[in-house]
Amino acid sequence: MARAKLIVGNWKMYTNAKSSVELAQAVAEGLKDNTQVMVGVCPPFPWLTKVSEAIKGSKLEVGAQNFYPAKEGAFTGEVSPGMLKEAGCTFSIVGHSERRHTLLEPDLLLNRKVKAGIAAGLGIIFCVGELLSEREAGHTEAVLEFQIAAGLAGLTAEQLKLVTIAYEPVWAIGTGKVATPQQAQEVHAFIRKFIAKQFGETVAQSLLIQYGGSVKPDNAAEILKQPDVDGALVGGASLKTDSFLAIVKAAY
Ligand code: G3H
Repeated sequence: MARAKLIVGNWKMYTNAKSSVELAQAVAEGLKDNTQVMVGVCPPFPWLTKVSEAIKGSKLEVGAQNFYPAKEGAFTGEVSPGMLKEAGCTFSIVGHSERRHTLLEPDLLLNRKVKAGIAAGLGIIFCVGELLSEREAGHTEAVLEFQIAAGLAGLTAEQLKLVTIAYEPVWAIGTGKVATPQQAQEVHAFIRKFIAKQFGETVAQSLLIQYGGSVKPDNAAEILKQPDVDGALVGGASLKTDSFLAIVKAAY
């Protein structure tokens, strides 16, 4: 089945007010002739509105890196899905490994986030991935099964339409170590099979599964041409217009 490709830049805690707008505008400009690939960027919270306004009418989507699963309330320091929509976001990342492992977000909370985001009409990029020690111990598939079953628990096939899974082996994030195209394909095929078991074959065949972890212009094409790799979640290389656009082109 032919699936669309989705390339998303996760800017993490980088950029400032000026550079975020400049980067987004330059990327949007570079997408003028692109009709083939869906592209988004996830700036830090404070720049979301500015960036959304700066690229209005372009083919670039704006997303968030995180949110709290409530409409509003006494949740100091948190941001709701509705606030993100008002700031121009159409989607958000949930469960990035930096939030799982540095901010210690548990699977149950991630499941609440996925549900709250979908209820608000946000697309969700749900991240999963194993640690190096888990891979070396032969536990990659068990870890992924657990993360997916827990994170997507209780969702209907209809709700799954708003979800993209990003497979990000933790050992490949920001390390320069990239999974080989074969390693990525093996895991993506495994994830698709697992989704088929949980939600049915039709859902599994239309689900987008992105790869993330040291994707760069020079390795993107090989990874993106794997049959079960439907795009990339890009960190470091999304902070430079040329390298990000080169990755988008590699998805054509
Ligand atoms: O969200 C993006 C991933 O964490 C990958 O980051 O491309 O800098 O390795 P990276």
